[in-house]
Amino acid sequence: MAYRLYEGKEHASSYWKYRISPSDHLIQQVLNFLEKQRGQPFELAVDVGCGSGQGTLLLARHFVSVVGTDVSPAQLEMASQHAKEPNITYRRCVAEELPFADGSVDLVTAMSAFHWFDRPRFLQEAHRVLKPRGCLALLNYTIDMQLSYPDCCSHTLNQVCKEFYAALQPYRSAHLGPSSIEIYREAHGSIPYPDKEWLMSIMKVTSVETEVVVAVKYFYLLACKPQDA
Ligand SMILES: C[S@@+](CC[C@H](N)C(=O)[O-])C[C@H]1O[C@@H](n2cnc3c(N)ncnc32)[C@H](O)[C@@H]1O
Repeated sequence: MAYRLYEGKEHASSYWKYRISPSDHLIQQVLNFLEKQRGQPFELAVDVGCGSGQGTLLLARHFVSVVGTDVSPAQLEMASQHAKEPNITYRRCVAEELPFADGSVDLVTAMSAFHWFDRPRFLQEAHRVLKPRGCLALLNYTIDMQLSYPDCCSHTLNQVCKEFYAALQPYRSAHLGPSSIEIYREAHGSIPYPDKEWLMSIMKVTSVETEVVVAVKYFYLLACKPQDA
């Protein structure tokens, strides 16, 4: 069963606009791992649960071809609109049934998406499609992000942020458990958001387009399929 929380066009459009991408540094860590484990050439990368494709784009210049997959047509439409690179394609499918031959993929990534999947089935499927010594990279970030804004007390901003997350706590999906930020995105559009006003008043701004610096801590899990598995 897929969690269909990313289906609306407006949602996909906001997702494209506000989504925090993994850094180039983080992607480089993944590539270093693949290089060490399997080596060149980097032929095919599959970004599962690619959403609107920000992470998929980061892979494009390192692989002969990159395929982003997602269950949501709206996300894929947004991803296609922004993918100018000729070596990226997008396909609609569930993470648990990937349309790739056995042993055909160098790198499978899931960026902030793994926690939504049927994890045992996805891992089995990733194993099936990976080449021997191909690699799996699961990336996500933690919710203890650090905000900063000129002439503002960071401590106060971050305190508001903490309170905001605490207010969302009752709306969290049991599926996610206590440590994923993703329920925040789903709830953001559908529940009252008074703390947003509060945050903006601390910053002494009125525009929702105001840019704030956010430091995000990503973490990752890298794994290499053994030669004889
Ligand atoms: C949190 S978003 C992450 C998107 C992107 N990887 C990123 O880092 O911005 C999770 C994505 O996973 C997709 N998704 C959730 N469950 C899925 C499943 N079982 N199969 C395929 N895609 C799934 C959703 O449609 C959504 O686009």
